[in-house]
Amino acid sequence: MCGIIGYVGHRPAKEILLSGLRKLEYRGYDSAGISLVEGDEIRSVRAVGNLDHLEAALSGALESGRVATLAPPATVGIGHTRWATHGRVNEANAHPHFDTSNRVHVVVNGIVENYVELRERLVADGAVFSSETDAEVIAQLLASHYDGDLAAAVGLTLAELDGSFSFVALCLDEPDLLVAARRESPLVVGCGSDESFVASAVPAFLADTRSVRYIESGEIVLLRAGSVEIRDATGAVVERELVEIDWDEETAEKGGYETFMLKEIYEQADGLAETLGDRTVRGNGVDLADEGAFDEAILEGVQRVVIVACGTAYHAGLVGRYAIEEWARLPVDVDVASEYQYRNPIVGPGDLVIGISQSGESFDTLAAMRLARARGARVIALTNSMGSQATRDADAALYTRAGLEIGVAATKTFTCQLAAVYLLALRLAELRGTLPAARIAELVLALRRLPQLVDELLAGVEPSVAAVLDWCWDADFFLYMGRHVGVPVALEGSLKLKEISYISTDAYPAGEMKHGPIALLDESTPVVAIATDSPLLTKVISNIQEVRARGARVIAITTAGDTTVAQHVEATIEVPATDEMLVPLLAVIPLQLLAYRIAIRRGLNPDQPRNLAKTVTVE
Ligand code: AGP
Repeated sequence: MCGIIGYVGHRPAKEILLSGLRKLEYRGYDSAGISLVEGDEIRSVRAVGNLDHLEAALSGALESGRVATLAPPATVGIGHTRWATHGRVNEANAHPHFDTSNRVHVVVNGIVENYVELRERLVADGAVFSSETDAEVIAQLLASHYDGDLAAAVGLTLAELDGSFSFVALCLDEPDLLVAARRESPLVVGCGSDESFVASAVPAFLADTRSVRYIESGEIVLLRAGSVEIRDATGAVVERELVEIDWDEETAEKGGYETFMLKEIYEQADGLAETLGDRTVRGNGVDLADEGAFDEAILEGVQRVVIVACGTAYHAGLVGRYAIEEWARLPVDVDVASEYQYRNPIVGPGDLVIGISQSGESFDTLAAMRLARARGARVIALTNSMGSQATRDADAALYTRAGLEIGVAATKTFTCQLAAVYLLALRLAELRGTLPAARIAELVLALRRLPQLVDELLAGVEPSVAAVLDWCWDADFFLYMGRHVGVPVALEGSLKLKEISYISTDAYPAGEMKHGPIALLDESTPVVAIATDSPLLTKVISNIQEVRARGARVIAITTAGDTTVAQHVEATIEVPATDEMLVPLLAVIPLQLLAYRIAIRRGLNPDQPRNLAKTVTVE
């Protein structure tokens, strides 16, 4: 998955493309490049590494004259930031890609599944390929179909491609035109004053225009400085409404923090207040009725809930299972989306399927949602991204309101996902009459207090995290364990540490330790135990004693005021008391910070961990 952008207008394109790519870097950052229409040629600069490397390469190219410095500067161009799928990470495989005659350039996000056969055919017809990528076949195909009309060539090319992708094309013979197309992968158009933008996501051009048009799968869009024309697969012109984006661009900046991840950890109270605020007011119950994209009728008559998600969102789903089963007394299945779609799942009418995805773009989650919907289930997209693909593939959308999350490691979007699944669980309980009104009122109150508790926690927790750093930051292996809702917290803490610090980690239900994982432990192993207040705490303490008997050193997440656990462990990190079901939302925060501080101590950049991208739009 990658970020793509195109600009056609009256201002210097290079700066606009670079600043747009910065906003898309979360989608991939192993190489980047831009192509600009410079007089009678298209000039391209590409570089391995993140955008700093591209900027450096551009300065070098400017000095050596590879990109013209003479006025007027290019006002048309395309750009790309890559997360490798086909082909190694090197300059030749970086985008933009171009045809043999160097007249057609493209930037592509996604995968062309039939690229091998297309490539063989094109080579037989004389095309000379310069990369190992699937994306280059698009440039070569476009050139092979080009007959003075780039949009027509795009239409013919699309008809030959299998896979899911979006791309933007530029042709020297029509230098004032960009033509973009999408099949499944996202694409959105920005409409400025005498300038047009196209990109994988809105933040890429939000600083320049807030007026957008969303492109649907299968459509082609022609962009000129003063016009945007959308066509469907038959070539017919499509009218598409102009949407005004009201996000605050400030949210995309670091706001004084050293990294986006740290800023996002500290923004959690705000995101929660937004996510919970107006949905927890009606008669001490939950109010989802005013949600624009959410018709509560979808919750009526549900017999089973299925949650599909990936990574951190999957962990939010696991917490959702405890809450929905306990409060609404509905059976819940939670599935890793990449597995769900391939096991011929039993799903259909009567099932409510919740796809959790902060981006609303994860390929596997979308595929699982589509499968369930095709079989007659009702599908909700629980997402942080307005208008994302998930919302269009679902019957209803329930938004988290975490704001833009840039750090690759999900933090504030996770806690907001928890808040949203709690809201859904409670609303289902209300509708089904499975909880007394007094208990609902109690839980609503507890939910409403969460933002304040998160603030209190963040105000005081760093010293306890710092206190354990000295003896655990260079460990080779960490083990996380918990019981009940502590299990997903352990899983999420473990994922956070491994993805940003590259330390090997594992997470288990504490009761499972003696069935195998305990063999991993020795004096060098830090064990993180979720040992907050609950009816199962004494059992967790027994499990702590078992691991300590094998020499492991235990860091326990405990409830403020607890004095029992401290007697059995090397260190405690306290979280405020709340309802047992809501504990994950607080207990995960010290684990986010622990992972963060360890990564920083190890000299790593938590915002851009190796091999990862923020949004996984490929299978
Ligand atoms: C979280 O830290 C991860 N980077 C990753 O597991 C993520 O949660 C997963 O890829 C799902 O993304 P989504 O919520 O955008 O669908």
